[in-house]
Amino acid sequence: MHCYGTLINYLSCGFILTGLVHLVHHRKTQTSYGRHMKLSPPTRMVPARLAWFLQEMPAFFIPLLLTLTSYRPSSMGKTLLLGTFSMHYFQRTFVYSLRTRGKPFPLSVMVAAGLFCSLNGFLQGHYLLHCAQFDDDWSADYRYKTGLVLFYVGMAINIHSDYILRNLRKPGEVIYKIPTGGLFEYVSGANYLGEIVEWFGYAVATWALPTLSFAVFSLCFIGPRAYYHHRFYQENFKDYPKLRKALIPFIF
Ligand SMILES: NC(=O)c1ccc[n+]([C@@H]2O[C@H](COP(=O)([O-])OP(=O)(O)OC[C@H]3O[C@@H](n4cnc5c(N)ncnc54)[C@H](OP(=O)(O)O)[C@@H]3O)[C@@H](O)[C@H]2O)c1
Repeated sequence: MHCYGTLINYLSCGFILTGLVHLVHHRKTQTSYGRHMKLSPPTRMVPARLAWFLQEMPAFFIPLLLTLTSYRPSSMGKTLLLGTFSMHYFQRTFVYSLRTRGKPFPLSVMVAAGLFCSLNGFLQGHYLLHCAQFDDDWSADYRYKTGLVLFYVGMAINIHSDYILRNLRKPGEVIYKIPTGGLFEYVSGANYLGEIVEWFGYAVATWALPTLSFAVFSLCFIGPRAYYHHRFYQENFKDYPKLRKALIPFIF
């Protein structure tokens, strides 16, 4: 397939711009789901499991479809796509979504997230399969190796932290408790820290604007959320660990 380079560049810049605009507009309030939900009736709600499944699914299936319809012989782009982005979204769509014990999700937020995942699935899939040019020795490059290590470490932190959060509640409970264990001993947003490390690792391993744009978007979206989660814990739990930070251990 032809590489739609101009479209890819526009989409990448759009992601960075959207992330920065989100950062500025959400200095005081966070996107309305989970503990930061502000209901303004009539808000239609979707069960959390269905919402996460439907909104994340396009980010897995669109790159998969692009891979299946790409006739290029095995390439570094395909290896990177399947080994990173698709692996993450397989986990998010078929494991995380189906096990979450979160509150119901506003339909509007689910639709917006699904649209973002569709665009991102296309951006990452099309770029890596049809536009990226990797030298034959890219797999020996220190950026490839370092990036992949960061990606897998971040993914492990993210999955482990989401597992800790999920197990704070018994089935049917919707209360919040103080998370402990893993990186939660150091930061309130351990799952977000893992996810941010993951996508910056992916950007380093692929060394490209589209992958960097997704990492920047993630940082702008979930970085502030970690700060607001941290504030929520401090306001609601008198015994919240004093030395715990919001997102970066010992620093912030
Ligand atoms: N790349 C991106 O831009 C991006 C954007 C958004 C999310 N994500 C990822 O998606 C995943 C979920 O995100 P999220 O914003 O929903 O994370 P979150 O607010 O930390 O919540 C994760 C789950 O744990 C529950 N939970 C959180 N803290 C809890 C506590 N103290 N006690 C009991 N239950 C608790 C939440 O329930 P409630 O829903 O009822 O609060 C939710 O079901 C994360 O891995 C995140 O990194 C990525």
